[in-house]
Amino acid sequence: MPDTLPLELDAPPCRLRLLTPDDAPALHHLVNDWEVVRMLSRPPFPYPRELADEWITATQTLCQKGEGFYFAILGPDGRLAGCIGLRIMPLPQTGRAPHDNAPRVGQLGYWIGRAYWGQGFASLAASRIARWALAHLNIDRLTATAAQDNVASIRVLERAGFRHTGTDRQKFVARGTDLPVELFEATRTDISQPRSPKKAPDSAGQAPAATAQLPHRTLMPLPPLALQAVPRRLSKRADHRPRPKLTEHRRGGWSWSVPQHSSTRLADSSGSQA
Ligand SMILES: CC(C)(COP(=O)(O)OP(=O)(O)OC[C@H]1O[C@@H](n2cnc3c(N)ncnc32)[C@H](O)[C@@H]1OP(=O)(O)O)[C@@H](O)C(=O)NCCC(=O)NCCS
Repeated sequence: MPDTLPLELDAPPCRLRLLTPDDAPALHHLVNDWEVVRMLSRPPFPYPRELADEWITATQTLCQKGEGFYFAILGPDGRLAGCIGLRIMPLPQTGRAPHDNAPRVGQLGYWIGRAYWGQGFASLAASRIARWALAHLNIDRLTATAAQDNVASIRVLERAGFRHTGTDRQKFVARGTDLPVELFEATRTDISQPRSPKKAPDSAGQAPAATAQLPHRTLMPLPPLALQAVPRRLSKRADHRPRPKLTEHRRGGWSWSVPQHSSTRLADSSGSQA
């Protein structure tokens, strides 16, 4: 069993690597957008520039302690397109105080800058991180929440193999209120068992680009939950403006030891680079 954790991951045409302080200006530019922040529970709006620095520093501390892993999602042009991360927490156990051997969960969160929406980046990144986390981390399962009106995110989770487990309410700081959220989780079994039937090709007979890249997944038909949550104006797909020119991007190439799951059964061979 490897004693290092791959922290650069391919999710073609995207690449994932840990956030670095150099990402702060681009991160701030992308996240300081009402359409992004309103769907995230904790960030305020406007999003202060210094918060980007503080948040990246906090993610590095969590990573060093093995308590969180936060990745930059780099688009095909090598630029920051969004972020995806996991916070590792003890599994809530009713009536029991947390203890060292308590099962742990990885709470998944992500966002994509508006200019990059609708290109499959979130689906690719969520699938890749889910497989990576369940293959390499000492966690029992992954959990995620999405606001009930966040049809795109609900779809991302479903495509990544998450199961709907219930509903709750959660505070959304930017919106200044509690909102209903849908709860999801994924175990190793959920992620490793493909579901069928496969989604029909589009009118040109081509599978969507992201679909072709999703590791070990076929698409589920759109379930009632996502259909219920689709507000009419959300059905408009994101822009398809020309992408910026390809630029060279700094590669971190970091890896360090973290506890490995003793009963890992999920293979993670699709493109990880130690
Ligand atoms: C949710 C979000 C991450 C999706 O990112 P994305 O890269 O555009 O998502 P994908 O291209 O992988 O699309 C995923 C699915 O959502 C659908 N979708 C994407 N944007 C959509 C939109 N504006 N309206 C409706 N559906 C949309 C896609 O068609 C796709 O569904 P399909 O599998 O049936 O084709 C992005 O919109 C975002 O960052 N929003 C703000 C922050 C946020 O919501 N974060 C998640 C918090 S839980």
